[in-house]
Amino acid sequence: MAKRVYIETYGCQMNVADTELMFGVLGRAGYARADDPAEADVMLVNTCAVRDNAEQRVIGRMGELQRYKQPGGVLGVVGCMAQRLGPALLERVPRVDLVVGPDAYRNLDQLIGLAAGGQRTADTGFREWEHYEDVPPVREKGPTAFVTVQRGCDYRCTFCIVPYTRGAERSRRLEDVVREVQALAAEGTSEVTLLGQTVNGYHDGRHDFADLLRSVGSVDGVRRLRFTSPYPTDFTPRVIEAMALTPAVCEHVHLPVQSGSDAVLRRMLRRYTRARYLEVMEQLRAGIPGITFSTDIIVGFPAETDAQFEETLSLVAEADFDDAYTFKYSVREGTPAARLRDHVPADVASARLDRLIEAVRANVRRKNVARVGQVHEVLVERPARRGDLMLGRTRTNQLVLLDLPAGAAGEYHRARLTGTTGSTFTGAVVAPALAVL
Ligand code: SAH
Ligand code: F3S
Repeated sequence: MAKRVYIETYGCQMNVADTELMFGVLGRAGYARADDPAEADVMLVNTCAVRDNAEQRVIGRMGELQRYKQPGGVLGVVGCMAQRLGPALLERVPRVDLVVGPDAYRNLDQLIGLAAGGQRTADTGFREWEHYEDVPPVREKGPTAFVTVQRGCDYRCTFCIVPYTRGAERSRRLEDVVREVQALAAEGTSEVTLLGQTVNGYHDGRHDFADLLRSVGSVDGVRRLRFTSPYPTDFTPRVIEAMALTPAVCEHVHLPVQSGSDAVLRRMLRRYTRARYLEVMEQLRAGIPGITFSTDIIVGFPAETDAQFEETLSLVAEADFDDAYTFKYSVREGTPAARLRDHVPADVASARLDRLIEAVRANVRRKNVARVGQVHEVLVERPARRGDLMLGRTRTNQLVLLDLPAGAAGEYHRARLTGTTGSTFTGAVVAPALAVL
């Protein structure tokens, strides 16, 4: 009988895409997919290392998963935490048999074989050529898909572990990306999200991100094109022009700012000032009318003063974000910021986070209340968690609940926004499903 593999995924969209890749690698080796750990011979946890609490959650989860381990079964840690801790993880967590980093998924079958034979195994080698180009990811069929176009990161934001867990930046060839998107579109996917750590810095040696947007955006059947995450100063005029002239590119950008203080940005080694960041936003707003912005913000970076934190609060108002993910700084061993002095006390950082969340929420609520009554094109994605409504998304990235049957997934409707919780919307269909372009 085929071995069954269960994979649990934490962290960013790139991990979601990597899990699909691992199902591809293992499917090719004859594994069947298990949706329940109790039914699996092999359990893998695809991990995030960006903040300590993400890692603590995984350690706790390993304790629970261990109970499902079959005789001869394998419990493995893969992804960024596996890469960060390497073979040391085998010593630290005795129940773990296997540790595999993001560049070693090609060998998963052999590595699992070793672990199943009783040899606890780690592979955290970097392979800077690795794109898994020959491995078709196994995705849930649906209207939306993530497509990795760039792996690794060459920036060195001082707080960030990613360059150390995902290695050097490399871009896939444009033709390969386009071929993958064509196959997706042929299967009924109409919205594609391109993934990379500094995705707008994409360059395959011949083509830049502007070329990529134009090429992917003109694939038959691709009606919506998104990307995450861009680096603020990598929005060249060429890229903004390609966004403006490619109808599929959605009017939403996730634009991580991290801080509103120039002094903090400098210590973070972000390559822009507050003024430059706001200028990039202005250029995007001018080029793409109606564009919305979400962001990432860190509070409590080493030596952040009250006054510097206030500058972040004032940026939230000035930038007028439509959404924001807010984090308390988490020390990552081995990153440059870990060696900085004057770490902010935990209670001070927590108080700042609370105030920031309040400020973001108030701004988002005000903007969303003003959206009620507007009519938007909504792509119906999937059933909502509660009730029998369907969850969809506007081009500007607002979530909308619609009263439609489950079979409506993948359809485009025009819908009026009828109410908001402050963050998500209810809507009413005002026009029947629109034919795909
Ligand atoms: N280039 C990627 C960054 C990945 S990390 C991207 O833009 O998506 C995602 C976010 O986690 C970062 O933008 C940052 O806000 C946050 N983050 C990264 N390292 C962190 C740390 N040490 N402590 C707290 N938050 C962190
Ligand atoms: Fe991290 Fe900065 Fe790269 S946040 S992923 S080092 S752009």
